[in-house]
Amino acid sequence: MTDPGAAAQDARRKDDHVRLASEQHAEPRAHDLDHVRFLNHPLAAGDRSQVSLRTRAQAFTWDVPLYINGMTGGTAHTETINRALALAARETGVPIASGSTGILHREPAAIPSFRVLRDLNPDGFVLANVNANLTPAQARRSVEILEADGLQVHINPAQEIVMPEGDRDFTRWAENIAAIVDGVGVPVVVKEVGAGMTRGTVERLRDLGVTTVDVSGRGGTDFTAIESARRDDGGMDYLAGWGQSAVEGLLDASPVEGVDLLASGGIRHPLDVVRALALGATAVGVAGGFLRLLLTEGEAALVARIHAWLTQVGDIMTLLGATTVADLRHVDVLLTGPVREFCDLRGID
Ligand code: FNR
Repeated sequence: MTDPGAAAQDARRKDDHVRLASEQHAEPRAHDLDHVRFLNHPLAAGDRSQVSLRTRAQAFTWDVPLYINGMTGGTAHTETINRALALAARETGVPIASGSTGILHREPAAIPSFRVLRDLNPDGFVLANVNANLTPAQARRSVEILEADGLQVHINPAQEIVMPEGDRDFTRWAENIAAIVDGVGVPVVVKEVGAGMTRGTVERLRDLGVTTVDVSGRGGTDFTAIESARRDDGGMDYLAGWGQSAVEGLLDASPVEGVDLLASGGIRHPLDVVRALALGATAVGVAGGFLRLLLTEGEAALVARIHAWLTQVGDIMTLLGATTVADLRHVDVLLTGPVREFCDLRGID
């Protein structure tokens, strides 16, 4: 049975997230990625025709090291957005994740708003997304409904704490993630939603059976700020910027034996993509920036942007003399400013 009050609250939250996240991406912002510099070696540049964007993790091989990260679904407005995102994914070949599908299990009418990701993108790599409280059976059902190739499980305590209707007990997440990994039948990616994570968290996830982790860090969409803006009382806006960046997450956690890292959170352009790959990411996700472009300039602009990014990622790899994504891990990188300081404090060479 569905509770009409809870369903209306779910729907309002989904639409609020889209509006407030898009507003956050109106202007490009400073990011830890600005402190990741490549050295220019003019004689080391390669041959563009030899560069491959293909990227390999234990759980998947993707033709490109870029994906549209989990965002939305569940309302009429977000169905329209998911349609456009699905078509953009199909046109460009980038993998795509849905927003949290928890609502499907309370509100079957929400199904089509997620299902478009598969219907409009039949050959694409699609990830369903769930929170860490869903049962393995519910997670499996989300995967079935989307005919998904993989599952994202988000772990987002900072967001939940600021959300009035959010979770307050996180103590069963780890055990439940292990059960989901065991029971869902597709590869599982565990991710933050923009507050980052430490090496210790990545190691713990590895011990729970997870092989792919998106360290989704701060510097892009900020859900503590979004949830504060949704509250009448000012919320906890002082928590804005909570956590670590993707740069810090990658430096802290790579390599953790047995885990492939994904990076997201504030990726602004192809150089950021290449920087994250050089720091050990297998692929790089974008959410808010692509959403903003879609809402302000439309689907064709998003398709053109993704095509351009993929071309330019290959161009920058050529400049750096990297033929494969894995080669990028061996190029010369300088870490400066606060990133250097983070490494010193965490004992990272
Ligand atoms: C998100 N994100 C997200 N993540 C998740 O795992 N489940 C979800 O339902 C959502 N919902 C959502 C809605 C909107 C509108 C946005 C913009 C983002 C988080 C997203 O996947 C990503 O981790 C962060 O947004 C950081 O990346 P960007 O936005 O800075 O590129």
